[in-house]
This record gives sequence, C-alpha cells and structure tokens, in this order.
Amino acid sequence: MQIELNTKKLNELTDTTRIVFIVAKNFEHQWIEDKEALELLGFKAENEECLFVPTHNILYVGCESLDPDDIRLAAAKAYDFLKKTTIREVCIGTYSLDCPGLNIKAMVEGFTLASYTFNAYKSQKEPIKLQTIILCLEDYSRTDVSMQTASKALNAGMIIAEATNFAKEIINAIPNDMTPLALANVAQTLISLPNVTCKVLDKDFLEEQGMNAFLAVNRASVHPPKLIHLIYKPEDAKKRIIYVGKGLTYDSGGLSLKPSEHMVTMKADKSGGAAVMSILKGAAELKLPFEIHAIIGATENMIGGDAYKPDDVLVAKNGKTIEVRNTDAEGRLVLADCLSYAQEFKPDLLIDMATLTGACVVALGEFTTGIMGHSETLKTSCLEAFTKSGELSGVLPFNKHLKKLIKSSVADISNISSSRYGGAITAGLFLDNFIEEENKDKWLHLDIAGPAYVEKAWGYNPFGASGAGVRANLYWMIDEAKK
Ligand code: BES
Ligand code: ZN
Ligand code: ZN
Repeated sequence: MQIELNTKKLNELTDTTRIVFIVAKNFEHQWIEDKEALELLGFKAENEECLFVPTHNILYVGCESLDPDDIRLAAAKAYDFLKKTTIREVCIGTYSLDCPGLNIKAMVEGFTLASYTFNAYKSQKEPIKLQTIILCLEDYSRTDVSMQTASKALNAGMIIAEATNFAKEIINAIPNDMTPLALANVAQTLISLPNVTCKVLDKDFLEEQGMNAFLAVNRASVHPPKLIHLIYKPEDAKKRIIYVGKGLTYDSGGLSLKPSEHMVTMKADKSGGAAVMSILKGAAELKLPFEIHAIIGATENMIGGDAYKPDDVLVAKNGKTIEVRNTDAEGRLVLADCLSYAQEFKPDLLIDMATLTGACVVALGEFTTGIMGHSETLKTSCLEAFTKSGELSGVLPFNKHLKKLIKSSVADISNISSSRYGGAITAGLFLDNFIEEENKDKWLHLDIAGPAYVEKAWGYNPFGASGAGVRANLYWMIDEAKK
C-alpha cells in the first residue's frame, strides 16, 4: 500500500473512490454529498462506523473529533472496510484544524497501522486489492496545508507506523521461529540503515561479565542466550539515549510453572525487546539527532533438570545477591544484568521496556503502559509523549514502604515481594537496585504487560501484538530533537 500526495481538488479525481470523514456528527459539511441518503439509512456516524454510497463512490466514516487520535482511528477503520472490497485506489482530503503536521501524520499512521496483517501462519493468505491512497491537499477546515508540511508529515507517519508494524511482526512470531538467535538475526538486518551497528554477545561474554542472573534464567533452555546491542550513532548526536528491552522469547514460568491458561500468549514476552529494536529503527530512519542504543536480553525461561530454582541465590553483574523465590519473576533478573551492562555506556537517558508484571495489567487495565522512575520531570514528559502519540499510559508511584517488601533474609534482595499487592511497583523497585546513583534521575521503567498483546481487538489494534511503546518513544524523541 502506498500513500501519495496530490495538489488536485478532491472532485477533480472523479473516477477514484473518495473517503469522507463525518466529523463530530456534522452532516452539514460541503464534502457530504449524500446527506439525505445517509439519514434514510440511519447512519449516525458513531464509533467510526463506515457506509459506502456507490452512486457517488464515497465511503463515509464517522470521526469523533479532529483530535489526532480520532483521525488515526477513523483512517484505520476506513482501511479495515476497504480491504474487504475490490477497490484499488482511494482519495481523501486533509483534516488539519490548527495542526496540519500532527493530523496528517496521525492519518497516515492510521492507514499504515491498519495495513498490517499477521498471516505468517495461514496457508491461504487473503489478497488485499487496495494499492494507493491519494492524499489531496484540500482541507476540511480550509486551512492551507503546504506541500512541504504534508510531505514531512507523510514521511514521519509512515516511518513511525512501519516501525510499530515491524515490532508486531517480531512479537507475533512463534517461539520456535523467533528464538534468541533468530531475534539477533533480525537485529542484524538493521545494519543496512545508515549509522547503525550491531553486536551480538554470546553466552561466553555473559559468563565473563558475571551476568549470572541473566544466565540462570536461560539455563534450562535448549536455545543459548543472546545479548543484542544495536547502536545508531549520527554525527551530530545531542544526547545518548539507551533503551533496554526484555526479550523473553518464551516465558513458561520456569519451575514456578505458569498455569496453562496463563502460558498462552507468552511468546509476547519479547515485546520490550522488539519495541526497543523498532524504536531504534524508526529513529535511524527519521535521522533523529541522538545516539541511541537498544540493548536486548534474549532468552527463554524453561523447565528441566538444569533449571534455576526457587531457593537459589544468584550473584548479579553488579555484585548484588538475589534470592530466587519465584522463577516466573524472570524478566527482572534478565533486566538487572542488562541494565548494569547498559550503564557502562554512560547514558544521558536510560529507559527499560518490559512485559514485566501481570500486576501492572491489574493496576492500569490492559490498554495502558505503566511508567515508573524517580524523576518527576522525566515521568511527566514521557506521559505527555504517550498521550500525543495516542498511546495510553499512567504513572505508578514508588514509595519507601513498598521498597521494604523485596528485602530478603537470605540475600541482598528477593526477586518477589512479600505482599500480594503493588506488584508492578515492587518489580520496578527491584530494578532500581541495579541503577547506579548517578543514573537514578536518568532512568525510566515502562511496564507494557497490558497493551503489548491484544487478545480482543480494540481501537486500531488488531488481534495479536500491538507494538506498544514504539510510537510513544518516537514522538517523544521527535519533540526532544526540536528543543
Ligand atoms: N511475563 C510475565 C508478566 C506478564 C503477565 C506479561 C501477563 C504479560 C501478561 C512475567 O515474567 C511474570 O510472570 N511475572 C509474574 C511475577 C510474579 C511471579 C511476582 C506475574 O506477573 O505474575
Ligand atoms: Zn515470568
Ligand atoms: Zn516474563
């Protein structure tokens, strides 16, 4: 599918199917040629409902408002409708209000996000006829949109949505296909981008570095672990931003085995790793002026005679000892060592992303990312970026009482809390033990356990992986680059 810009008026493209959004139930707009017919058919323009009127060759789509996320959603719903038809080409105007760039970007994202289908494991793939979307620079609110603004927005929107779709494809792949080695091979493909390099570090390196927490999680797996380190380093880099992602290609729970109904979907426990990789890809394509690292701890968490056990004590890379009380709290063990490794590269900003806790899903619901950290400024700025990108997030506050719940009588720290409450935060506080003093205010932890994997389609997210966190972080860096 391609999106083209065109300076023609919509009604000059007489043979092309036109998409018209009905914004805020306003049927009076000049673009609506079938007011009576729509009324007759009982079309209310609610919930992004779509109605095709063949006589005028127009697809009407309800759009709640001119907020970017409503436009993103309406565009996605239009695409969902069109992909079931044999229509090959459509045109649409712009819906700018006072922010043409943002709204065009959102529309392009909506179309591109919706164009992703996960069909790698279907023997019959349904062909999609829709090839071209022509974006005409004629505006709903009669704002003048310049070709330059539109083409910049088109380019950015495509890159951001394609990076998100890239993450989805990695996450949706089954554990037998997307092993730690396969994940490393995907990372290697990104070196075709300018200024991107990739190192894949093996078990020997992890042993040399004393990354015993990471190694313990891997022990019962037949697939060796990989520490994947991607770097995007443009010449004029303003800051060094280091992302660390949880790359559990499968989480069975280990000896603290998950019940079967909780084990399905655990192929998605690599979502943090896939996200950081995709953020780096997007940032390199957008040519953002930051040095960006994506560090991924890739392994499975399995069972077997060699499995690490509840009661084990592990010595992490930074020397801290960890009492293992539950082998299903494995993500924090892998991240602990990866965070220690990451800090050797002196970050200006350190962000980890992980499907870390079911407790985060209980706290915030399945649509929302949990943001944790020490710096109020950083948390606020991250929250704003999520909102701007159309992703949902909420801040979960640390406190000194919760911090006490991960004390251990055996080792320096326990890998689970002694209370059944506040599990997302105690997991964040566990990670805090591996953040050096000088980096406390540079660090954020994003728990994406809720939104990373969609079991019931919502908004513009189809069944399966959503690429949670990719758009939000790219929006954040785009805005930071302007400062
Ligand atoms: N990968 C899971 C967290 C998870 C749960 C992600 C649901 C996505 C959806 C993680 O490794 C885990 O199992 N966490 C445990 C921690 C507990 C043992 C302290 C959990 O959340 O139950
Ligand atoms: Zn687990
Ligand atoms: Zn896990």
